[in-house]
Amino acid sequence: MTESRRKTLRNERWAKPRRMRIAPSILSADFAHLAEEIARVERAGADFLHVDIMDGQFVSNLTFGPIVVEAIRRLSSIPLDVHLMVVEPLRFLDSFARAGADHVIIHAETVEDPAAAGRAIRDRGLYAGVTVKPETPIERLIEALPGIDIALVMTVEPGAGGQAFLDGSPERIAKVREAIDAGGYDCLLEVDGGITADTAATAARAGADTFVAGHSIFQAPDSEAALHRIREAIDRA
Ligand code: DX5
Ligand code: ZN
Repeated sequence: MTESRRKTLRNERWAKPRRMRIAPSILSADFAHLAEEIARVERAGADFLHVDIMDGQFVSNLTFGPIVVEAIRRLSSIPLDVHLMVVEPLRFLDSFARAGADHVIIHAETVEDPAAAGRAIRDRGLYAGVTVKPETPIERLIEALPGIDIALVMTVEPGAGGQAFLDGSPERIAKVREAIDAGGYDCLLEVDGGITADTAATAARAGADTFVAGHSIFQAPDSEAALHRIREAIDRA
């Protein structure tokens, strides 16, 4: 990331009143045609590109690292929302910052002090996110709110695309929304996993403002139309 880009990021806060944002997850895209896939969702108005990094340890699946993020950076001008499903995420912050990540989201389960991890991410000029697995008490995420820019509620077990939105998710989203509003934090409330037009509306009603969607966009016959359907659903919710 260039110095001027870093400055822009630090000076720009999330717009209020709450704006709804969509972050297609490229995990479900056709990697043989990634440039076209990304161009399509950008054309459809994607706000961020969600990029899932899995290490085969924190989750059993394995994806890719900073080299591929750097290539994606060259294919896209919208912010890269990098979700680290890795043990010891702090070891990789510099590499992902250099690769062009804009947001880095780590799992609270992988660090001793999520708020300190948030500060370490911000120190690199990046937006800092924290998330928790569905089984982890949501308080672990709520505790980190003072030091982060993105609170991500996982609405499936991390590790794979194409799963169903978990039943207990709306309550967890609502608890985080309440804590963000009560504390007056300038923090996005993102949801990730099983997001379709229907579940996006449910999540929006519970208080989410940022929606990651992989399968429902990239596996749809028309990814632009699929993104528009999610947009309509959250605008109506
Ligand atoms: C799951 C990932 C998600 C995944 C979501 O571990 O964090 O970002 O790509 O995929 P869908 O939208 O297909 O559930
Ligand atoms: Zn993700």
